[in-house]
Amino acid sequence: MKQSLPDPTSSALPAGASLHVAIIMDGNGRWATSRGKPRVVGHRAGAEAARKIVEAAPDYGITTLSLFAFSADNWQRPAGEVRALFQLLRMYLHRETPRAIEEGVRFRIVGRRDRMPAGLVRAIEESEAATEGGDVLDLRLCLDYSARDAILAAAQALREMPDLDVTRENFARLVAQDDPGSARPTPEVDLLVRTGGEWRLSDFLLWESAYAELYFTNRMWPEFSPADLEAAVLEFHRRERRFGRVPAAAAAVGGELALREAAGPR
Ligand code: FPP
Repeated sequence: MKQSLPDPTSSALPAGASLHVAIIMDGNGRWATSRGKPRVVGHRAGAEAARKIVEAAPDYGITTLSLFAFSADNWQRPAGEVRALFQLLRMYLHRETPRAIEEGVRFRIVGRRDRMPAGLVRAIEESEAATEGGDVLDLRLCLDYSARDAILAAAQALREMPDLDVTRENFARLVAQDDPGSARPTPEVDLLVRTGGEWRLSDFLLWESAYAELYFTNRMWPEFSPADLEAAVLEFHRRERRFGRVPAAAAAVGGELALREAAGPR
């Protein structure tokens, strides 16, 4: 984390943050059924919530946003629901691409494309090409996505690249499906948010989230607002990320004690 920790009582966000936030958008179905509506109504409201979150993300220092829109396991849902989800995604891409171009949002689809309907893949590729120049926000829509499959695919790809050094950085690029040689490799996830009251990762960005801060909320996704995103980001900034080290204060005291201990009895 590049910025200093803010006063926890202040609502001001640190300037100059550059965060990768990943969101498991859960709770569409329950939100709809609790209102006596079909699940697809929840997905429609969920798409609208996603639109608002994407629009607000740069205001909170988010430069990469990964949204879990359809998991590899979601194929097991009823065919009608799957079709409705794909239709929504197409509509979303159609409606949001012009706005994305204006606002500097770059769309990337992460996941498998070979099982998706051809029309959706075409719409995806058109949006990716049209928004290629976006430099405000990298929006990664994870579709037909499984983190374990992504790691496996990266390992398989390595076999085809005997000259590539097997380093964390190179492997991470393969896992994230970055374009080879891209000047903007996907950064690790800083903050992983899951809505809908469940506390699990569901095979989402397992490699990229090795040191992510986790934030779970009971809010159902259709009701997750930009204010909720801001609350999550503020909570993130209040946490001390240690990456396996001891806290700074303890390091100072502990270091002195360790030196004394090492010097032996006087
Ligand atoms: C989980 O809710 C949500 C999904 C499986 C799909 C997420 C899709 C959207 C938010 C709409 C489309 C998104 C975009 C970006 C256009 P759930 O159905 O599992 O909810 P439940 O746990 O209450 O059943």
